[in-house]
Amino acid sequence: MAREREGNLRSLSPAAEGVDFYSNDYLGFAREDPAVYQEGSKRRGSGGSRLISGNHPLYDSLEQRLCTVHRSEAALVFNSGYDANIGLLSAVPQRTDYVFYDQSVHASIRDGLALGRARTFSFAHNSLQGLEERVGKVLPDGVPRGAEAYVVTESVFSMEGDSPDLKALAAYCAGRGFRLLVDEAHAAGIIGPKGEGVIAESGLEGAVFARIVTFGKALGRHGAAILCRPDLREYLVNFSRSLIYTTALPPDTLEGILQAYDTLTGAGGDERRARLRSNIACFREKAADFGLAGGFHQGGAAIQTFRVGDTARAGELGRKINAAGFLVKPILYPTVPRGMECLRICLHSFNTDDEIQGVLSILSREYQPGADE
Ligand SMILES: Cc1ncc(COP(=O)(O)O)c(C=O)c1O
Repeated sequence: MAREREGNLRSLSPAAEGVDFYSNDYLGFAREDPAVYQEGSKRRGSGGSRLISGNHPLYDSLEQRLCTVHRSEAALVFNSGYDANIGLLSAVPQRTDYVFYDQSVHASIRDGLALGRARTFSFAHNSLQGLEERVGKVLPDGVPRGAEAYVVTESVFSMEGDSPDLKALAAYCAGRGFRLLVDEAHAAGIIGPKGEGVIAESGLEGAVFARIVTFGKALGRHGAAILCRPDLREYLVNFSRSLIYTTALPPDTLEGILQAYDTLTGAGGDERRARLRSNIACFREKAADFGLAGGFHQGGAAIQTFRVGDTARAGELGRKINAAGFLVKPILYPTVPRGMECLRICLHSFNTDDEIQGVLSILSREYQPGADE
């Protein structure tokens, strides 16, 4: 690598002990605070980027843990899923490369691509055939020499709660030498015996170029990581601007994520996942009893989406359900395309049967199909 030859290869080193002349902790607020931390050695804030003062040793512990749980060769923690996606997609695909992305991918993926310089093309949601057609049109003679092609999708989609056929997608990418990137924000912690996500559960770790897991969703904390090979991790440390030019996570956040992983991979995690699965099954059964099944996206994920197809009606329905004491969000354009406006109901391990019954009974009472239905 040119950087190595020129002596400017970046690397992450642990925050050193000594007199601090490098952090941005101007008023000492990030330092040990005996009123808060009785035990001594903890800092409240990281004081700077991971490349300067912020790379607390807990980063290393967390990244090792992520490699074990999600079965990855390497992991790199970012401040959020948004940062991870923009840092990955703006830095990795190059000007001469091609990126094919599912038309329903999260805004952070789109924003990352917009910041980057590769040529980008959407394909029909969860459709391998749609991808094949798009690739056939864009690259009729295959990928030009020296260029790469990427395919970007999510293992559980954030709005619809549905999933692509990842085995088929991985086989397609492997057959053509394309690099597959999968955002597992809504699968991490939930899918797989220990919450390892769809890719590890399906044994596809080796078939995926990079995965994104986030800690602000099932883990209940904050932050995210890119799971990949060590060479890609090193590249990101050098070129991913949303990693380099931002203050690192505070140590107590890293500790909180590690604690969440302890619970997730222990008996507590098994029990919560089992309760969530049973609530999803209960929800789908009751939705069928209320005659609402046809309005919901097919899918067994914690995200259950009821299609309304109109901004005013989705907003009104949301307000009525909220007024009855159930917090449900209408999802409107531009988060979803026009005509796809919906109610997004997120299920949890802690919801009760009565709550599920309650929200569905109000939905069935208040939902007025449009004139075209
Ligand atoms: C699929 C997907 N990727 C990334 C993100 C961003 O994650 P974070 O909230 O940690 O920034 C989200 C969350 O909204 C998401 O749904």
